[in-house]
Amino acid sequence: MVRTAELLLLLLGLSGVLRAQLPPPTVVINLDLDPELRWLPLKTVFDVDYLSRAAAQIIESIVPKWVHHAMTPVVASLEKYIPLPYAGEIRGLASVLGGNLSDAVILNFAYEFSAFCTSIVAQDKNGNVYHGRNLDYPHPVLRNMTVNLVFQKNGKVAYVGTSFAGYVGLWTGMSPGKFTVSGDQRGTEHWWNWWKNVVSAVLFHSSPVSWLVRETLEEAEDFEDAVMRLSKTPLITGVYYIVGGVRAGEGVVITRDRKGPADIWPLDPLQGGWYRVETNFDHWLPAPAKDHRREAANKALNATGQDHISMDKLYQVLSLHPICNIITVYTTVMSAASPGNYTTFIRPEGCLQTD
Ligand SMILES: *[C@@H]1O[C@H](CO)[C@@H](O)[C@H](O)[C@H]1NC(C)=O
Ligand SMILES: *[C@@H]1O[C@H](CO)[C@@H](O)[C@H](O)[C@H]1NC(C)=O
Ligand SMILES: *[C@@H]1O[C@H](CO)[C@@H](O)[C@H](O)[C@H]1NC(C)=O
Ligand SMILES: *[C@@H]1O[C@H](CO)[C@@H](O)[C@H](O)[C@H]1NC(C)=O
Repeated sequence: MVRTAELLLLLLGLSGVLRAQLPPPTVVINLDLDPELRWLPLKTVFDVDYLSRAAAQIIESIVPKWVHHAMTPVVASLEKYIPLPYAGEIRGLASVLGGNLSDAVILNFAYEFSAFCTSIVAQDKNGNVYHGRNLDYPHPVLRNMTVNLVFQKNGKVAYVGTSFAGYVGLWTGMSPGKFTVSGDQRGTEHWWNWWKNVVSAVLFHSSPVSWLVRETLEEAEDFEDAVMRLSKTPLITGVYYIVGGVRAGEGVVITRDRKGPADIWPLDPLQGGWYRVETNFDHWLPAPAKDHRREAANKALNATGQDHISMDKLYQVLSLHPICNIITVYTTVMSAASPGNYTTFIRPEGCLQTD
Protein backbone atom coordinates (compact mmCIF):
# COMPACT_ATOMS: atom_id res chain seq x y z
CA MET A 1 0.00 0.00 0.00
CA VAL A 2 2.69 2.44 1.02
CA ARG A 3 4.64 1.65 -2.07
CA THR A 4 1.68 2.33 -4.33
CA ALA A 5 1.06 5.62 -2.59
CA GLU A 6 4.71 6.59 -2.90
CA LEU A 7 4.71 5.71 -6.56
CA LEU A 8 1.61 7.80 -7.07
CA LEU A 9 3.19 10.78 -5.33
CA LEU A 10 6.28 10.35 -7.40
CA LEU A 11 4.27 10.31 -10.61
CA LEU A 12 2.22 13.32 -9.60
CA GLY A 13 5.39 15.12 -8.56
CA LEU A 14 6.98 14.34 -11.88
CA SER A 15 3.98 15.58 -13.73
CA GLY A 16 4.35 18.90 -11.92
CA VAL A 17 8.06 19.52 -12.11
CA LEU A 18 9.83 17.61 -14.82
CA ARG A 19 7.09 17.02 -17.35
CA ALA A 20 8.08 20.07 -19.34
CA GLN A 21 11.25 18.34 -20.55
CA LEU A 22 9.87 14.82 -20.75
CA PRO A 23 7.67 12.70 -22.94
CA PRO A 24 4.03 12.62 -21.80
CA PRO A 25 2.96 10.01 -19.24
CA THR A 26 1.91 6.60 -20.54
CA VAL A 27 -1.39 5.04 -19.53
CA VAL A 28 -2.50 1.49 -20.31
CA ILE A 29 -6.11 1.16 -21.49
CA ASN A 30 -7.35 -2.39 -21.03
CA LEU A 31 -9.91 -3.14 -23.77
CA ASP A 32 -10.98 -6.32 -21.99
CA LEU A 33 -12.54 -4.19 -19.25
CA ASP A 34 -16.02 -2.76 -19.28
CA PRO A 35 -15.88 0.52 -21.32
CA GLU A 36 -16.86 2.56 -18.25
CA LEU A 37 -13.79 1.34 -16.37
CA ARG A 38 -11.15 1.56 -19.10
CA TRP A 39 -10.12 5.17 -18.60
CA LEU A 40 -9.95 5.16 -14.80
CA PRO A 41 -6.13 4.62 -14.87
CA LEU A 42 -5.87 8.25 -16.06
CA LYS A 43 -6.39 9.11 -12.40
CA THR A 44 -3.05 7.55 -11.51
CA VAL A 45 -1.05 10.04 -13.59
CA PHE A 46 -3.27 13.11 -13.80
CA ASP A 47 -4.59 15.35 -11.12
CA VAL A 48 -8.38 15.04 -11.40
CA ASP A 49 -8.99 18.62 -10.24
CA TYR A 50 -6.62 19.93 -12.87
CA LEU A 51 -8.30 17.85 -15.58
CA SER A 52 -11.79 19.01 -14.72
CA ARG A 53 -10.69 22.65 -14.60
CA ALA A 54 -8.84 22.27 -17.90
CA ALA A 55 -11.87 20.62 -19.52
CA ALA A 56 -14.09 23.47 -18.34
CA GLN A 57 -11.63 26.00 -19.77
CA ILE A 58 -11.55 24.33 -23.16
CA ILE A 59 -15.33 24.15 -23.36
CA GLU A 60 -15.63 27.77 -22.27
CA SER A 61 -13.28 28.84 -25.05
CA ILE A 62 -15.22 26.94 -27.71
CA VAL A 63 -18.87 27.21 -26.70
CA PRO A 64 -20.46 30.44 -25.40
CA LYS A 65 -21.68 30.13 -21.81
CA TRP A 66 -25.39 30.54 -22.49
CA VAL A 67 -25.29 27.90 -25.22
CA HIS A 68 -23.43 25.61 -22.90
CA HIS A 69 -26.15 25.96 -20.28
CA ALA A 70 -28.96 25.57 -22.78
CA MET A 71 -27.33 22.53 -24.29
CA THR A 72 -26.55 20.62 -21.12
CA PRO A 73 -29.86 18.71 -20.81
CA VAL A 74 -30.01 18.07 -24.58
CA VAL A 75 -26.51 16.67 -24.63
CA ALA A 76 -27.16 14.49 -21.61
CA SER A 77 -30.13 12.95 -23.44
CA LEU A 78 -28.11 12.46 -26.62
CA GLU A 79 -25.66 10.31 -24.74
CA LYS A 80 -27.89 7.27 -25.02
CA TYR A 81 -27.60 7.38 -28.82
CA ILE A 82 -23.81 7.42 -28.92
CA PRO A 83 -22.58 4.05 -30.18
CA LEU A 84 -20.68 1.52 -28.10
CA PRO A 85 -18.05 1.35 -26.79
CA TYR A 86 -17.72 5.15 -26.87
CA ALA A 87 -20.88 5.84 -24.87
CA GLY A 88 -19.58 3.72 -22.00
CA GLU A 89 -16.09 5.13 -22.27
CA ILE A 90 -17.35 8.72 -22.24
CA ARG A 91 -19.53 7.91 -19.22
CA GLY A 92 -16.45 6.53 -17.47
CA LEU A 93 -14.44 9.59 -18.44
CA ALA A 94 -17.11 11.85 -16.99
CA SER A 95 -16.18 10.49 -13.56
CA VAL A 96 -12.49 11.22 -14.23
CA LEU A 97 -13.39 14.76 -15.32
CA GLY A 98 -15.39 15.51 -12.21
CA GLY A 99 -18.72 13.84 -12.87
CA ASN A 100 -20.21 15.99 -15.61
CA LEU A 101 -21.48 13.73 -18.38
CA SER A 102 -22.74 16.54 -20.57
CA ASP A 103 -19.32 18.20 -20.48
CA ALA A 104 -17.57 14.92 -21.28
CA VAL A 105 -19.74 14.54 -24.39
CA ILE A 106 -19.20 18.15 -25.49
CA LEU A 107 -15.45 17.80 -24.99
CA ASN A 108 -15.30 14.66 -27.10
CA PHE A 109 -16.99 16.36 -30.00
CA ALA A 110 -15.41 19.78 -29.52
CA TYR A 111 -11.88 18.57 -30.31
CA GLU A 112 -13.03 17.55 -33.76
CA PHE A 113 -12.40 21.16 -34.80
CA SER A 114 -9.52 23.58 -34.91
CA ALA A 115 -6.67 21.07 -34.81
CA PHE A 116 -3.98 22.44 -37.15
CA CYS A 117 -1.23 20.03 -37.88
CA THR A 118 1.68 18.97 -40.02
CA SER A 119 2.15 15.32 -40.95
CA ILE A 120 5.01 13.83 -42.94
CA VAL A 121 5.50 10.33 -44.29
CA ALA A 122 8.90 9.55 -45.80
CA GLN A 123 10.93 6.62 -47.06
CA ASP A 124 14.72 6.23 -46.86
CA LYS A 125 16.97 4.67 -49.52
CA ASN A 126 16.59 1.23 -47.89
CA GLY A 127 12.81 1.33 -48.05
CA ASN A 128 12.22 2.09 -44.36
CA VAL A 129 9.08 4.18 -43.86
CA TYR A 130 8.98 6.94 -41.21
CA HIS A 131 5.97 8.97 -40.11
CA GLY A 132 5.95 12.14 -38.06
CA ARG A 133 3.39 14.68 -36.96
CA ASN A 134 3.00 17.94 -35.10
CA LEU A 135 -0.30 18.55 -33.41
CA ASP A 136 -1.12 22.24 -33.18
CA TYR A 137 -4.03 23.43 -31.09
CA PRO A 138 -4.57 26.87 -29.57
CA HIS A 139 -4.98 25.65 -25.98
CA PRO A 140 -1.91 25.61 -23.74
CA VAL A 141 -3.67 23.37 -21.19
CA LEU A 142 -3.57 20.51 -23.70
CA ARG A 143 0.17 20.21 -23.14
CA ASN A 144 -0.63 19.13 -19.59
CA MET A 145 -3.31 16.71 -20.81
CA THR A 146 -1.22 14.97 -23.48
CA VAL A 147 -0.85 11.26 -22.85
CA ASN A 148 0.61 8.22 -24.60
CA LEU A 149 -1.88 5.39 -24.62
CA VAL A 150 -1.21 1.68 -24.86
CA PHE A 151 -4.40 -0.21 -25.73
CA GLN A 152 -4.24 -3.81 -24.57
CA LYS A 153 -6.36 -6.79 -25.48
CA ASN A 154 -5.90 -10.28 -24.02
CA GLY A 155 -2.87 -8.99 -22.16
CA LYS A 156 -1.12 -7.98 -25.37
CA VAL A 157 -0.54 -4.57 -26.97
CA ALA A 158 -3.23 -4.12 -29.64
CA TYR A 159 -2.28 -0.56 -30.68
CA VAL A 160 -0.79 2.63 -29.27
CA GLY A 161 -1.51 6.31 -29.70
CA THR A 162 -1.11 9.82 -28.38
CA SER A 163 -4.11 11.79 -27.20
CA PHE A 164 -5.51 14.16 -24.58
CA ALA A 165 -6.81 12.94 -21.25
CA GLY A 166 -10.59 13.03 -21.50
CA TYR A 167 -10.83 12.18 -25.17
CA VAL A 168 -11.71 8.71 -26.50
CA GLY A 169 -10.63 9.22 -30.14
CA LEU A 170 -7.13 9.23 -31.59
CA TRP A 171 -5.43 11.64 -34.01
CA THR A 172 -2.11 9.81 -33.84
CA GLY A 173 -1.49 6.09 -33.53
CA MET A 174 0.30 2.92 -34.53
CA SER A 175 -0.65 -0.69 -35.05
CA PRO A 176 2.72 -2.30 -34.24
CA GLY A 177 4.30 -4.08 -37.19
CA LYS A 178 1.43 -3.00 -39.48
CA PHE A 179 0.88 0.72 -40.01
CA THR A 180 0.86 4.22 -38.50
CA VAL A 181 -1.87 6.89 -38.88
CA SER A 182 -2.21 10.58 -38.23
CA GLY A 183 -5.10 12.93 -38.92
CA ASP A 184 -4.90 16.60 -39.91
CA GLN A 185 -7.90 18.89 -39.99
CA ARG A 186 -9.31 19.79 -43.40
CA GLY A 187 -11.30 22.99 -43.81
CA THR A 188 -12.73 25.02 -40.99
CA GLU A 189 -15.68 24.07 -38.87
CA HIS A 190 -17.52 26.26 -36.40
CA TRP A 191 -18.45 25.34 -32.89
CA TRP A 192 -22.15 25.72 -33.71
CA ASN A 193 -21.86 22.82 -36.10
CA TRP A 194 -20.75 20.38 -33.48
CA TRP A 195 -24.28 19.26 -32.60
CA LYS A 196 -24.96 18.59 -36.29
CA ASN A 197 -22.01 16.27 -36.16
CA VAL A 198 -23.38 14.46 -33.15
CA VAL A 199 -26.72 13.99 -34.88
CA SER A 200 -24.98 12.94 -38.07
CA ALA A 201 -22.90 10.44 -36.13
CA VAL A 202 -25.99 9.00 -34.53
CA LEU A 203 -28.51 9.01 -37.37
CA PHE A 204 -26.33 8.40 -40.37
CA HIS A 205 -23.72 6.26 -38.68
CA SER A 206 -20.96 8.60 -39.78
CA SER A 207 -17.84 8.34 -37.73
CA PRO A 208 -16.03 11.19 -36.00
CA VAL A 209 -12.61 11.26 -37.69
CA SER A 210 -10.75 10.32 -34.50
CA TRP A 211 -12.99 7.31 -33.85
CA LEU A 212 -12.29 5.95 -37.31
CA VAL A 213 -8.55 6.18 -36.57
CA ARG A 214 -9.08 4.11 -33.44
CA GLU A 215 -11.29 1.55 -35.17
CA THR A 216 -8.81 1.22 -38.01
CA LEU A 217 -5.93 0.67 -35.57
CA GLU A 218 -8.03 -1.93 -33.81
CA GLU A 219 -9.30 -3.82 -36.85
CA ALA A 220 -7.23 -3.32 -40.01
CA GLU A 221 -5.02 -6.25 -41.04
CA ASP A 222 -2.30 -4.25 -42.75
CA PHE A 223 -1.43 -0.98 -44.50
CA GLU A 224 -3.65 -1.65 -47.51
CA ASP A 225 -6.65 -2.59 -45.39
CA ALA A 226 -6.09 0.54 -43.27
CA VAL A 227 -5.99 2.78 -46.36
CA MET A 228 -9.20 1.20 -47.64
CA ARG A 229 -11.07 1.75 -44.37
CA LEU A 230 -9.78 5.29 -43.89
CA SER A 231 -10.74 6.15 -47.49
CA LYS A 232 -14.25 4.74 -47.62
CA THR A 233 -15.91 4.91 -44.20
CA PRO A 234 -18.42 7.81 -44.02
CA LEU A 235 -17.21 10.62 -41.74
CA ILE A 236 -18.93 13.53 -40.02
CA THR A 237 -16.43 15.97 -41.50
CA GLY A 238 -13.56 16.15 -44.01
CA VAL A 239 -10.01 15.36 -42.89
CA TYR A 240 -6.55 14.38 -44.13
CA TYR A 241 -5.39 10.93 -43.10
CA ILE A 242 -1.68 10.22 -43.41
CA VAL A 243 -0.75 6.54 -43.31
CA GLY A 244 2.63 4.80 -43.19
CA GLY A 245 3.25 1.05 -43.61
CA VAL A 246 6.14 -1.36 -43.14
CA ARG A 247 7.27 -1.89 -46.74
CA ALA A 248 8.82 0.37 -49.36
CA GLY A 249 6.19 2.50 -51.04
CA GLU A 250 3.69 2.15 -48.18
CA GLY A 251 2.94 5.77 -47.45
CA VAL A 252 -0.04 7.91 -48.46
CA VAL A 253 -2.00 11.09 -47.84
CA ILE A 254 -5.76 10.51 -48.11
CA THR A 255 -7.84 13.67 -48.61
CA ARG A 256 -11.28 12.89 -47.26
CA ASP A 257 -14.73 14.27 -48.03
CA ARG A 258 -17.51 13.23 -45.71
CA LYS A 259 -18.62 10.44 -48.04
CA GLY A 260 -15.35 9.15 -49.45
CA PRO A 261 -11.89 9.99 -50.77
CA ALA A 262 -11.38 13.26 -52.66
CA ASP A 263 -7.80 12.29 -53.49
CA ILE A 264 -5.21 9.60 -52.73
CA TRP A 265 -1.57 10.74 -52.86
CA PRO A 266 0.87 7.86 -52.37
CA LEU A 267 4.64 7.91 -52.04
CA ASP A 268 6.27 7.52 -55.44
CA PRO A 269 9.94 6.94 -54.61
CA LEU A 270 10.95 5.90 -58.13
CA GLN A 271 9.83 9.29 -59.44
CA GLY A 272 11.47 11.28 -56.65
CA GLY A 273 8.39 11.27 -54.41
CA TRP A 274 10.18 9.85 -51.34
CA TYR A 275 8.16 11.98 -48.92
CA ARG A 276 4.73 13.57 -48.63
CA VAL A 277 3.94 16.61 -46.50
CA GLU A 278 0.38 17.42 -45.47
CA THR A 279 -0.61 20.43 -43.40
CA ASN A 280 -4.22 21.62 -43.54
CA PHE A 281 -4.71 22.36 -47.24
CA ASP A 282 -5.34 20.20 -50.30
CA HIS A 283 -1.87 19.30 -51.60
CA TRP A 284 -2.77 20.12 -55.21
CA LEU A 285 -3.67 23.71 -54.31
CA PRO A 286 -1.24 26.42 -53.21
CA ALA A 287 -1.13 26.96 -49.44
CA PRO A 288 -2.43 30.35 -48.21
CA ALA A 289 0.21 33.07 -48.56
CA LYS A 290 0.47 33.51 -44.79
CA ASP A 291 1.06 29.83 -44.03
CA HIS A 292 4.63 28.69 -44.74
CA ARG A 293 4.57 25.31 -42.97
CA ARG A 294 4.29 23.19 -46.11
CA GLU A 295 7.01 25.04 -48.00
CA ALA A 296 9.35 25.00 -44.98
CA ALA A 297 8.86 21.25 -44.55
CA ASN A 298 9.49 20.55 -48.26
CA LYS A 299 12.61 22.66 -48.13
CA ALA A 300 13.95 20.99 -44.98
CA LEU A 301 13.26 17.51 -46.35
CA ASN A 302 14.95 18.38 -49.65
CA ALA A 303 17.94 19.63 -47.68
CA THR A 304 18.00 16.44 -45.57
CA GLY A 305 17.80 14.15 -48.60
CA GLN A 306 16.55 10.58 -48.90
CA ASP A 307 20.06 9.30 -48.06
CA HIS A 308 19.91 10.86 -44.60
CA ILE A 309 16.29 10.70 -43.54
CA SER A 310 15.68 8.85 -40.25
CA MET A 311 13.35 9.17 -37.28
CA ASP A 312 15.77 11.61 -35.65
CA LYS A 313 16.06 13.72 -38.79
CA LEU A 314 12.30 13.73 -39.16
CA TYR A 315 12.01 14.98 -35.58
CA GLN A 316 14.48 17.76 -36.42
CA VAL A 317 12.40 18.80 -39.43
CA LEU A 318 9.30 18.87 -37.24
CA SER A 319 11.17 21.10 -34.77
CA LEU A 320 11.81 23.89 -37.28
CA HIS A 321 9.81 27.09 -37.17
CA PRO A 322 7.11 27.55 -38.51
CA ILE A 323 6.49 23.79 -38.91
CA CYS A 324 6.64 23.79 -35.13
CA ASN A 325 5.07 27.02 -33.91
CA ILE A 326 3.63 28.82 -30.93
CA ILE A 327 0.56 26.53 -30.72
CA THR A 328 2.32 23.20 -31.32
CA VAL A 329 1.32 20.89 -28.46
CA TYR A 330 3.28 17.74 -29.24
CA THR A 331 5.42 16.00 -31.86
CA THR A 332 5.29 12.26 -32.54
CA VAL A 333 7.66 10.24 -34.75
CA MET A 334 6.93 6.60 -35.48
CA SER A 335 7.65 3.72 -37.81
CA ALA A 336 5.37 0.68 -37.78
CA ALA A 337 8.29 -1.65 -38.55
CA SER A 338 10.11 -0.42 -35.39
CA PRO A 339 7.26 -0.15 -32.90
CA GLY A 340 9.60 0.29 -29.93
CA ASN A 341 10.80 3.62 -31.35
CA TYR A 342 7.39 5.30 -31.10
CA THR A 343 8.25 8.68 -29.55
CA THR A 344 6.21 11.68 -28.46
CA PHE A 345 7.55 14.90 -26.99
CA ILE A 346 5.48 17.71 -25.59
CA ARG A 347 6.46 21.19 -26.75
CA PRO A 348 6.23 23.06 -23.44
CA GLU A 349 6.14 26.51 -25.01
CA GLY A 350 5.63 25.65 -28.64
CA CYS A 351 8.42 26.83 -30.96
CA LEU A 352 9.37 30.43 -31.46
CA GLN A 353 10.96 31.92 -34.53
CA THR A 354 14.71 31.98 -33.90
CA ASP A 355 16.14 33.87 -36.87
C1 LIG B 1 -22.58 20.08 -15.82
O1 LIG B 1 -22.20 21.39 -16.19
C2 LIG B 1 -23.28 22.20 -16.63
C3 LIG B 1 -22.73 23.51 -17.12
O2 LIG B 1 -21.78 24.03 -16.23
C4 LIG B 1 -24.26 22.37 -15.47
O3 LIG B 1 -25.35 23.16 -15.91
C5 LIG B 1 -24.75 20.99 -15.02
O4 LIG B 1 -25.59 21.13 -13.92
C6 LIG B 1 -23.55 20.12 -14.66
N1 LIG B 1 -24.02 18.77 -14.35
C7 LIG B 1 -23.58 18.09 -13.31
C8 LIG B 1 -24.11 16.70 -13.16
O5 LIG B 1 -22.77 18.56 -12.51
C1 LIG C 1 0.85 22.93 -16.89
O1 LIG C 1 1.41 22.35 -15.73
C2 LIG C 1 2.50 23.07 -15.20
C3 LIG C 1 3.08 22.27 -14.04
O2 LIG C 1 2.09 21.85 -13.17
C4 LIG C 1 2.02 24.46 -14.76
O3 LIG C 1 3.09 25.21 -14.26
C5 LIG C 1 1.41 25.18 -15.95
O4 LIG C 1 0.86 26.41 -15.55
C6 LIG C 1 0.34 24.33 -16.59
N1 LIG C 1 -0.08 24.99 -17.82
C7 LIG C 1 -1.32 25.33 -18.06
C8 LIG C 1 -1.58 26.05 -19.33
O5 LIG C 1 -2.23 25.06 -17.29
C1 LIG D 1 11.94 19.98 -53.21
O1 LIG D 1 12.43 19.11 -54.23
C2 LIG D 1 11.49 18.81 -55.24
C3 LIG D 1 12.08 17.75 -56.15
O2 LIG D 1 13.38 18.11 -56.54
C4 LIG D 1 11.15 20.11 -55.99
O3 LIG D 1 10.18 19.84 -56.98
C5 LIG D 1 10.58 21.10 -55.00
O4 LIG D 1 10.34 22.34 -55.62
C6 LIG D 1 11.51 21.30 -53.81
N1 LIG D 1 10.80 22.14 -52.83
C7 LIG D 1 11.38 23.10 -52.13
C8 LIG D 1 10.51 23.92 -51.25
O5 LIG D 1 12.59 23.32 -52.19
C1 LIG E 1 15.18 2.50 -32.86
O1 LIG E 1 15.92 2.75 -31.67
C2 LIG E 1 17.12 2.01 -31.57
C3 LIG E 1 17.72 2.26 -30.21
O2 LIG E 1 17.86 3.63 -29.95
C4 LIG E 1 18.06 2.43 -32.70
O3 LIG E 1 19.26 1.68 -32.64
C5 LIG E 1 17.36 2.17 -34.04
O4 LIG E 1 18.16 2.66 -35.09
C6 LIG E 1 16.02 2.87 -34.07
N1 LIG E 1 15.30 2.50 -35.30
C7 LIG E 1 14.79 3.39 -36.13
C8 LIG E 1 14.05 2.85 -37.29
O5 LIG E 1 14.92 4.59 -35.97
